[in-house]
Amino acid sequence: MMLIVKILLILATIGIIKMILILLLFKEEVKTARSKDPAARSVWEILFLYQGLHALIWYRIAHALFARKLFFAARMISQLARFTTGIEIHPGATIGRDFFIDHGMGVVIGETAVIGDNVLLYQGVTLGGTGLEKGKRHPTVGSNVVIGAGAKVLGNITVGDNSYIGANAVVIKDEPPNSTIVGVPGRVTRQDGKKIDVSLDHIHVLDPLVQNIEELQKRIEDLEKRK
Ligand SMILES: CC(C)(COP(=O)(O)OP(=O)(O)OC[C@H]1O[C@@H](n2cnc3c(N)ncnc32)[C@H](O)[C@@H]1OP(=O)(O)O)[C@@H](O)C(=O)NCCC(=O)NCCS
Repeated sequence: MMLIVKILLILATIGIIKMILILLLFKEEVKTARSKDPAARSVWEILFLYQGLHALIWYRIAHALFARKLFFAARMISQLARFTTGIEIHPGATIGRDFFIDHGMGVVIGETAVIGDNVLLYQGVTLGGTGLEKGKRHPTVGSNVVIGAGAKVLGNITVGDNSYIGANAVVIKDEPPNSTIVGVPGRVTRQDGKKIDVSLDHIHVLDPLVQNIEELQKRIEDLEKRK
């Protein structure tokens, strides 16, 4: 019994030392997490419970190793971080200041992705490639960008500063700054504060699957008329 108590005490002490180190070495990241999540109640809650913060700290360490060409160690850290947080950030990615991932699970950030300052990602976001191409193959995201839950931003494209990407959008081409992009494939619905009229019918126009089904439906109707 005494042994179990001792082990628990040692683990608790290690945990507390770890959190104090994070607080000292990653003050800015902790501050950002606090400012970007209205649900955050205390610094301790953020330190212990925020997977987005943990993933970012592991990424910063892995990225430093990657920059020193310690590729295996860097990838190992990023995979361990993925295992414990559900967030996979390639150590080769470039991420600016004031970055935060809220809720976390299922986020993937590719090797050649570049992210500016003050960017917020929600769960399920992918900044990925579109095939097996080499070189710069992941997106460049500007500063002050919010990417909604489940959105996919794919290929060597650029998302301009101060933009919002809607939940579940699939963005596959360059997008201008100061814009809101929604749908599949992503379309600008608002730019420089003004609504853009693209005759948006998100349910019927933007989803290619729905488009295909509609085309098939029309062909069946035409065939039935011919009978
Ligand atoms: C894209 C987003 C930023 C738009 O915000 P907004 O500028 O206030 O836009 P509006 O609400 O005025 O919507 C503009 C149009 O886009 C549509 N729209 C909004 N979000 C959309 C989305 N994710 N997908 C498809 N269409 C969307 C609206 O229905 C509206 O269509 P309409 O002009 O035909 O009526 C927001 O809707 C969004 O998706 N945010 C992500 C939030 C998120 O992921 N939260 C996770 C919390 S866990």
